[in-house]
Amino acid sequence: MIDSFLLVGLPYLAITVCVVGTFWRWKTQAFTWSSLSSQFLEARQLRWGSMPWHLGILLVLLGHLVALALPRVWGSLMTYPTLLVITETVGLGAGAMALVGIVVLAFRRLTSGRVQAVTTTMDLVVLALLFFQSLLGVLTALLHRWGAAWSTATVVPYFWSILLLRPDPSLVADLPPIVKAHLVGAWLVLLAVPFSRLVHVLALPLSYLWRAPQIVIWSGSRRARMQAKDLAVAESRREFLKGAAGVAVAGTLLSAGVLDKLVRFFQGPKISGEMETVLLAKRLRHLQMTAEEQALQLERQKNDRILIGRLSELSATKGKYFIDFHMAPALAFLGANGLPLLISAKCTHLGCTVGGDVDAQGQILCPCHISYFKITTGEPNPGAPAKTPLPHLEWAVVDAAGKTLAQRTAGGAIEGSLAGVPPEACQVYVCRPSPEGAS
Ligand code: HEM
Ligand code: FES
Repeated sequence: MIDSFLLVGLPYLAITVCVVGTFWRWKTQAFTWSSLSSQFLEARQLRWGSMPWHLGILLVLLGHLVALALPRVWGSLMTYPTLLVITETVGLGAGAMALVGIVVLAFRRLTSGRVQAVTTTMDLVVLALLFFQSLLGVLTALLHRWGAAWSTATVVPYFWSILLLRPDPSLVADLPPIVKAHLVGAWLVLLAVPFSRLVHVLALPLSYLWRAPQIVIWSGSRRARMQAKDLAVAESRREFLKGAAGVAVAGTLLSAGVLDKLVRFFQGPKISGEMETVLLAKRLRHLQMTAEEQALQLERQKNDRILIGRLSELSATKGKYFIDFHMAPALAFLGANGLPLLISAKCTHLGCTVGGDVDAQGQILCPCHISYFKITTGEPNPGAPAKTPLPHLEWAVVDAAGKTLAQRTAGGAIEGSLAGVPPEACQVYVCRPSPEGAS
């Protein structure tokens, strides 16, 4: 319930409020778009906070944007270990830089009397939000390594499921709390955009990163005050023109994009016969895969037991993969007692598929972040990223006449025995999990 609010309701609320609220602010208070500068109130700490914060966060968000906008390209690039390590290192460095920057900025707002005088409650809320969001991001990168790779199968499709109005929170429901909190934080930041100085991001004030510092000269004379007033008017006019130009450019690009799509739609695709064959083959493969998946799902809906194979085919050291009743990968082994041992192969850390080879310690390995699981208990090794055991699954061994010889029940108890029936004549089935659940 809480998950569906935080992962589905909140995103739509945030997107709607952000779009409508930003439009409303632009219509009613266009001159408040640029973030009011407080450089003339305090400059030293501002430099040490603002520069690292903006450089760090822009780099991090650029990475986020590319991963979200081009998931396939990003996903295939991240299969190269060197690229993955470089991306993670640069991302973490930039994240740490942003974190240091925001701490300095927060310290400045809380300690400089002059800056405090112009600080609103919303400024403090935004600072806190950005601090926690960056902290959660850095913690994600540190504690759940290789996010640049695993996010392509979890948070990226989740993000698109929200944008394409087919929300699927199950894609991220099993992620660790820190990662989920980072996602929720992103929606909260979006929610705050129209009500805070965050809206200045939309004015794309990138030149502030490299422009020379402003020189502020205080003067009490009336002439100077008039000049300052004129300057302020000129400045706000410039801001307005900049905003208008930004909107015009965005509008032109958008219309060009839409027009291009329309023209292409009416022209129809221009593809060679060879390309058409490749595309058709791809489409056919895709359809076959969807059909296979649906057939598996149907089989699991209609039956209480699914055949894995003969008992004689199972090995104590090399697992046989199959799809369990949750449509997740699982492994079948031959247990020390000569009976089957069925265990889920969906890693309890971030959902990677666990390998099927048993090592000398009787463990199987999840290669994503190195978690070893003992197959007899399902327990991960101490210190592993995975904290909970892989569940064992219920099974039944049936003879040629269809009689159940032995079975593992929900509580983990084993009932019956092979009663001298040779393993070649025994079929192994995985059973529908009973409501008490597998152990
Ligand atoms: C206001 C928005 C956001 C801010 C300020 C933010 C900030 C950060 C920071 C500072 C990091 C650590 C640096 C890094 O490793 O790249 C990070 C990591 C991460 N963020 Fe975000 N983030 C935001 C939104 C999002 C969203 C919308 C998603 C997913 C849809 C996301 C997914 C991730 C993931 C998976 C990581 C770990 C990357 C890794 O391990 O390399 N973030 N974020
Ligand atoms: S997914 Fe991280 S250890 Fe398995």
